[in-house]
Amino acid sequence: MLQAELGEELFNERRLSGSGQYACSSCHNRELGMGDGLRTAFGHDRQRGNRNAQQIFTAGFMHELFWDGRAVSLEDQAIAAMTNPIEMAGEPARIEEWINSDPDYRAKFAALQGEGRITLRQIVGAIAEFQKTLRPPRSKWDRMLEEGPSVFTDEELAGLHLFRTKAGCANCHNGPLFSDQRYHNIGLTYYGRKYEDLGRYLLTGKAEDVGRFRTPSLRAIGQTGPYMHNGLFPTLSGIVNLYNAGSVTEKREASLTDPAAPRPVLDPLVKELNLTAEERRALVAFLETL
Ligand code: HEC
Ligand code: HEC
Repeated sequence: MLQAELGEELFNERRLSGSGQYACSSCHNRELGMGDGLRTAFGHDRQRGNRNAQQIFTAGFMHELFWDGRAVSLEDQAIAAMTNPIEMAGEPARIEEWINSDPDYRAKFAALQGEGRITLRQIVGAIAEFQKTLRPPRSKWDRMLEEGPSVFTDEELAGLHLFRTKAGCANCHNGPLFSDQRYHNIGLTYYGRKYEDLGRYLLTGKAEDVGRFRTPSLRAIGQTGPYMHNGLFPTLSGIVNLYNAGSVTEKREASLTDPAAPRPVLDPLVKELNLTAEERRALVAFLETL
């Protein structure tokens, strides 16, 4: 058995959670585009988080993980998910205890890395190896790259062109992942309002990070809704309309959750686009090929 295969088994292992009810795959389900299909995730005791479960087809290629980049490796990310009280609520010592008393896992780990006590680091190491084997499902985009532009309809080609030019999407969604792996505020902070999420600022405390999130990959985007860090966008056409309007202007003067948080500043790359209805449809058609 390869380390990645053992990792896949652990990815589906409910006993990594405090209640024995949640596995990684509970929220990252292949049939739901490796997300959970929900606005925001439900975890331990049906507690609801405030962030949308990300697809993980591209996680193995990301330098920093989570919407705000707060984990710097797949291993740290997995420990965070496993021990988060509203996700899996697992306790490292208890996890190590049961896995070391399970003859099946002991044999599998021993075959890979020799006898000895299995540690949490080895568990998340195997899960990380599995995640590195994941790839976005083969799409029309992949076929277009291999076989040439005739694979695309005229509308999809027009959408690709707009994506790179007038609509400016490729300024941030670029490279093989369609992500620059940088942090931007595209105006969804909900500053001073019910769904307020200050994003990367919560991590760095820097004024310019208020409302910034990591540019998500757009691979398999047709299958990974609902969208955005808060899952508030059910459709791609809604997202294109948002960008077309130059996003939203924050009107409130003060943060709801942190009196010291400065007002968010919209990324200068997000501005009114003046796309026609036909152009907006073409962009959506292109996004669905990814
Ligand atoms: C209760 C639901 C839930 C469970 C269980 C869960 N996750 Fe997640 N996962 C999420 C949410 C929500 C996010 C985004 C959180 C954020 O950014 O604050 C996420 C983000 C991620 C990311 C980041 C992807 C990226 O591109 O940055 C990876 C990788 C990941 N999860 C893997 C795992 C692994 C491995 C496990 C099991 C150890 C796991 N998840 C368990 C809900 C869950
Ligand atoms: C300034 C950089 C930037 C530009 C320009 C930009 N995006 Fe984004 N995009 C982001 C960021 C950052 C997010 C995540 C924001 C959040 O969750 O609050 C995002 C989210 C998305 C999502 C949701 C992805 C998901 O998994 O939930 C889609 C779809 C999307 N963008 C498409 C587009 C399209 C189409 C354009 C062009 C009209 C565009 N973007 C222009 C940075 C950008």
